[in-house]
Amino acid sequence: AAEEQMYRPNFHFTPKKGWMNDPNGMFFANGYYHLFYQHYPDGNTWGPMHWGHAISKDLIKWEEQPIALYPDKDKYIFSGSAVVDTENTSGLGTGKTAPIVAIYTLHDMTKEKAGKMDVEQQDIAFSNDNGFTWQKFEEGNPVVKNPGIRDFRDPKVSWDKTHKQWIMALAAQDRIQFYKSSNLKNWEFASEFGKNIGAHGGVWECPDFFEIKVEGTKETKWVLIVNLNPGGPNGGSGVQYFVGDFDGKTFTMDAGFAERVQNEKAVWADYGKDNYAGVTWNNIPSSDGRRLFIGWMSNWEYAQQVPTTTWRSSTTIPRELQLVKKGNHYNLESKPVRELNNYVAKTLKVQSLNGKGTLKVIESGKADLTKAVISLDLKNLKQDDYTFTLSNANGESLSFGLNNKENYLFIDRSKAGRIDFSDKFASNVSKSFLEGSQKSAAFKIILDKTSIEIFYNNGEKVMTEIFFLNKPFSALTISSKQKIELKNGIIQVLDINKKQ
Ligand code: FRU
Repeated sequence: AAEEQMYRPNFHFTPKKGWMNDPNGMFFANGYYHLFYQHYPDGNTWGPMHWGHAISKDLIKWEEQPIALYPDKDKYIFSGSAVVDTENTSGLGTGKTAPIVAIYTLHDMTKEKAGKMDVEQQDIAFSNDNGFTWQKFEEGNPVVKNPGIRDFRDPKVSWDKTHKQWIMALAAQDRIQFYKSSNLKNWEFASEFGKNIGAHGGVWECPDFFEIKVEGTKETKWVLIVNLNPGGPNGGSGVQYFVGDFDGKTFTMDAGFAERVQNEKAVWADYGKDNYAGVTWNNIPSSDGRRLFIGWMSNWEYAQQVPTTTWRSSTTIPRELQLVKKGNHYNLESKPVRELNNYVAKTLKVQSLNGKGTLKVIESGKADLTKAVISLDLKNLKQDDYTFTLSNANGESLSFGLNNKENYLFIDRSKAGRIDFSDKFASNVSKSFLEGSQKSAAFKIILDKTSIEIFYNNGEKVMTEIFFLNKPFSALTISSKQKIELKNGIIQVLDINKKQ
């Protein structure tokens, strides 16, 4: 009961009971956003993998559903995707509504224990009731056999409308393989990408692959998301991406972006420690047109040790992705989905500040910081540190902000309550390097009971981290040796039960 009160997020999805990791198989159909997830309902650490299921009308308020896919003995249902097969190309439809086809990795634990290579294969299942109940395609599985690669998983399938084909991106150890199909049952190898490109500190997992408009232009590019564990930007799990072109067979990195990858070693969609295995929704109506992303808000370094017992892990806030051209390269930006605004119950102004030292931004008790969106703009920055500190009466604190001498954003959770469950949890300050020193800085901060999500300069850089306090934060300060000019501050306090 105490952990429900203290740690169950107010507005981020968590399973009622048991373990969760990656988001899986997301699509929109018939008025609902569907979210599936790697789930072990009978334990609070990783175990026999099921696909758990939740639905939402607005991406914010989720209703858990019965488990969608159960493992057979020793054959776990790993990560994957799902598509709405509008034209019934698979022939799996019964005629009334379009079949929905899930493509996932079947992971054979018996083979794993025997040290075999062909542990993972790609299977499909289908639903003829808009995604609520599922049947495995027993007679046709696997649809992609294992070619002798030990790590061969996490198929992301989507409809490639430009080349009129189903396209699959699949993680194959240290690269992504592409397969194409006309019917979701027969898959032909097309090409591969990534060997010796980008970050390779661990195994490549959970890819995503989609065409996206470049903001403010008519041009489109293809984005390849590649999750990686370990080897993330601040240790452990992380989500990197590549931008380029796709001719229906081969993905080619954009030259400017390739240069960026060279310079930065890898480019990440999030620079905090707790956004992993993130992928995007399929079948968002074209009248909406957004590319919507959700991640698992944890990190394999300590996910199984965090101090909750009834359930473990939550998802990130769903985010809208946008591709922005910057000079000769591209940047994938994330913004919290606008639906979050519908839950604002109260808006408070933060007084403008002008001064040195440590200044109060939010006075103790002024706003409920377990469900808040805080927007703060700093102006006329000098080359110095600007540190925000969230704190409570127990002396627990979390600091974040901008080091404008060495040009990075940071989050330091080393004093934010319980950290002793893992020596990896707070062993270093997380950093996100910026291109140069900043003249102004806009922070949008989403706070729930156990998480902070920082959207810097309208999503140009994002940092997501979790924490476990003994008492909620009640105050926020900012400090610097230089003059601080804080303008346009607002706090939006959310009410997840607000009528929609
Ligand atoms: C990523 C991952 C996937 C795999 C799943 C198993 O977190 O390791 O590669 O399919 O988790 O639960």
